[in-house]
Amino acid sequence: MRRRFVVLAFLVGMAVASCSRDAQSLPFSVIPQPSEVTLVGGGYDLKSSDLILSDNLDEKVKSAIAEFAEHLQTVAGGRNRVISGEDGRGVVFLVDPSLGNEAYRLDITKNKAIVAANSYNGFIYALQTIGQMLPAEFYGRERASGVDFVIPCGTIKDAPRFSYRGVLIDVGRHFYSVDEIKRCLDIMSVYKENVFHWHLTEDQGWRMEIKKYPLLTELGSLRHGTQIDFDRTHLRPEDHGGFYTQDEMRDVVAYAAKRGITVIPELDLPGHMLSALAAYPELGCTGGPYEVANTWGVKKDVLCVGKEETFTFLEDVLTEMMDIFPSKYINIGGDEVPKDRWNACPRCRAKMKELGLYDHDGHTAAQYLQNYVTARIQKFLNDHGRRIIGWEEILEGDLAEGATVMTWKGTGENVDSRLWNYDCIMSPRGYMYIDRYQSHEQDREPFSIGAYLPVENVYGYEPYDGVPEYGKKRILGVQANLWTEYVNTPEYLEYMLLPRLAALSEVQWVQEGHKDWERFRKALDHSAAIYDEMGLTYCKYAWGIVGLPENAQPARTPEELQKYLDSRN
Ligand code: ACM
Ligand code: ZN
Repeated sequence: MRRRFVVLAFLVGMAVASCSRDAQSLPFSVIPQPSEVTLVGGGYDLKSSDLILSDNLDEKVKSAIAEFAEHLQTVAGGRNRVISGEDGRGVVFLVDPSLGNEAYRLDITKNKAIVAANSYNGFIYALQTIGQMLPAEFYGRERASGVDFVIPCGTIKDAPRFSYRGVLIDVGRHFYSVDEIKRCLDIMSVYKENVFHWHLTEDQGWRMEIKKYPLLTELGSLRHGTQIDFDRTHLRPEDHGGFYTQDEMRDVVAYAAKRGITVIPELDLPGHMLSALAAYPELGCTGGPYEVANTWGVKKDVLCVGKEETFTFLEDVLTEMMDIFPSKYINIGGDEVPKDRWNACPRCRAKMKELGLYDHDGHTAAQYLQNYVTARIQKFLNDHGRRIIGWEEILEGDLAEGATVMTWKGTGENVDSRLWNYDCIMSPRGYMYIDRYQSHEQDREPFSIGAYLPVENVYGYEPYDGVPEYGKKRILGVQANLWTEYVNTPEYLEYMLLPRLAALSEVQWVQEGHKDWERFRKALDHSAAIYDEMGLTYCKYAWGIVGLPENAQPARTPEELQKYLDSRN
């Protein structure tokens, strides 16, 4: 594979060196870099090209192509007819049954282009590649005059390395509107990322409407005040709230699906549940009263699992979630569950006794109690045709087969080796926690959770490092996580995502050993132009500029914080 790549890279170089002027002026800056690229010189003008649909395309694919044509007409100002057939001058879309899921092929000559795929995602990825081969103005909303909408001639064969290519956004710590979430989905789709992990419940806010439990959103979505730096007594006094109605969540699911993205919702249980406890205190071990958290950090109050009512609650919530989210997987959290309350709670202790749980093999009875919770929820979801994903902690003690584990602490070198007995998704915080600073000039960046994770470090992650051969087969993919304790405006949210999602996409998509930082860094200039066209805020440190742009809504910096605290004295 490496050998073939080297040969191709050589051919590409030759092609560029020997081709006509117009081909030389057509850069190739597609992120993630496709598997095989052979450019032969010259270009194909899409401006008034017909888009030709072969008979066996399904309706969903046809409508994606029609939307592409409509958008192309808007920005290029030509006429792009969408017609049926197999032949003729134009871009011909064909089903090729020999291509794998998500794969596609482009054959582009001066007179004609062929787009072949064997799945919805394959076709939309082909369209994304075409989009990125065009000038960045393609990603704008208006007619771009004086721009040639020409793509380079040649052949591209492409397929992803991993099937799970995820991005998590935490809307619990800070709520983001449906429109903002859609902007995030738009940029994920540019990078062929295909899972939106929607972290919908947190100690600091419950964000999804559950009809059977209206207080979850009436009370649990609102917190009084927000911690603004590392001192838990420093609070911005205003309330913070917001939630999604079920219709809004369905709208997001449909919007994502059109972009080839599956929404996997997370119900983080049995910890990170203070917002639910604030609404329904009877679900806790002490009975409360509880308040939606307005400070960060791990909270000791978790669901009481010695009560059957807790399981009724969870199953009811999951039942409504399954009705909204058609995803094969539901993420059930499982991270950071302090066992203090369970160890002190008569009901939880009785449950441990009833189940015969005791400390052994390096794990406590209470950790085994968490296994019991995980297994019950897993069975419930499996009985409804779904599967669970949970954070790394679900491995502690005994995890039932069939669970998928999402790492967040460990890389291949340092995770619990039992991980490799399960399907897993790698999101180690050292590379994949995109809530960290992106520059060394942190006092000029908006205040963040700390640490340092620039775009090149995200790019440098190799998921197979330290993984035994048999474990490699269990890695479904890679995910970056954007926790939002301090990420409090849409501009700041986008700033944290970009350009790190670009680097992430190459970790997720490009075959082992084929990433190339120098090539990627050059291509990133084109991505930046795309962000500008899309009106997205991004971190410009790679271009020598530190911090949020002037026009972005300011987040709280340490100086602002000081001013704020002074004003209270
Ligand atoms: C996590 O960072 N607690 C998953
Ligand atoms: Zn209890």
